[in-house]
Amino acid sequence: MYPLRRNRRLRQSEAIRALVSETIISPNDFLVPLFVVEGKGVKEEIDSMPNYYRYSLDLLEKEVKELWKLGLKAVLLFVKVPDNLKDNSGTEALNPDGLMQRAIKAVKNACPEMLVMTDVALDPYSSFGHDGIVHDGQILNDETNSVLAEMSLSHAQAGADFVAPSDMMDGRIFEIRSLLEDEGFHNKGIMSYSAKYASAFYGPFRDALDSAPVDIKNVPKDKQTYQMDTANREEAIRETQMDIEEGADIVMVKPGLAYLDIVRDIKNAVDVPVAVYQVSGEYAMLKAAAEKGWLDHDAVMMEQITSIKRAGANIIASYFAKDVIKLIS
Ligand code: PBG
Repeated sequence: MYPLRRNRRLRQSEAIRALVSETIISPNDFLVPLFVVEGKGVKEEIDSMPNYYRYSLDLLEKEVKELWKLGLKAVLLFVKVPDNLKDNSGTEALNPDGLMQRAIKAVKNACPEMLVMTDVALDPYSSFGHDGIVHDGQILNDETNSVLAEMSLSHAQAGADFVAPSDMMDGRIFEIRSLLEDEGFHNKGIMSYSAKYASAFYGPFRDALDSAPVDIKNVPKDKQTYQMDTANREEAIRETQMDIEEGADIVMVKPGLAYLDIVRDIKNAVDVPVAVYQVSGEYAMLKAAAEKGWLDHDAVMMEQITSIKRAGANIIASYFAKDVIKLIS
């Protein structure tokens, strides 16, 4: 009771604030998303993601070495697939010499200890921009799962440590886990995008990979039949618990900031590590506002990352990872 207790005593200097801080950010918190393209010597900035790039394999190796030096020890790989290799069933995703498979090897070659996670979903490979096979206006579930399992196996064979299915088909974690076990890959992990919402915050990412759903007859224009409804909270727990039962080692909430209530719910409900994906639209918003001089970039960035960790994230996938670590080291 006041004046016996005064909360400001614990806020009066940098030293006491540091001593009682409940949330500390370090390089160990981060998973760094990386975009890969074909070519040589390519480092192209993504229009809607200032200061974020697509790398060809040679420059990817350079980037990964730099990340390791900064203490960042885990990457999440995405590939931009040439249009002529896209089809409805993700055939190219299973190519043992495809861009993803070569990217995994390139990272391991540059930096053998770097933890490599790979995105598993059909959308970058799909001529329709969907995470599953399209048939009669529907996204097929079980047929898609078979491809996702084969794709995961192919990433494991190429040397990935974890696969990260981001598609939201029902039962895919079970299909993937079963195939990895059958093929002897007992130690390959699964980070499931378990509570992934049908969010408009993914816009810049779809620019980066040219992977947005196409607008043609008999193809759904959005991902609402598989990604979750923004309005739902209890469903996130159900989705996440099912993925854990099916074999997910790490679960994820995505996007980040607008879904921190979900992060805390999940953190309280499960006993596996919880990852949060601070997505492309969140990155783009801050970059744009800072460019206009309307927000203090570094201060808002740190506030957002700290809030995501405070909400319950054990792992943060963020395009700001490098900026944060440079700022705090
Ligand atoms: C692919 C995938 C997406 C993201 C990660 N994996 C896009 C989508 O589902 O449409 C979004 C990441 C971001 O916006 O930063 N399934």
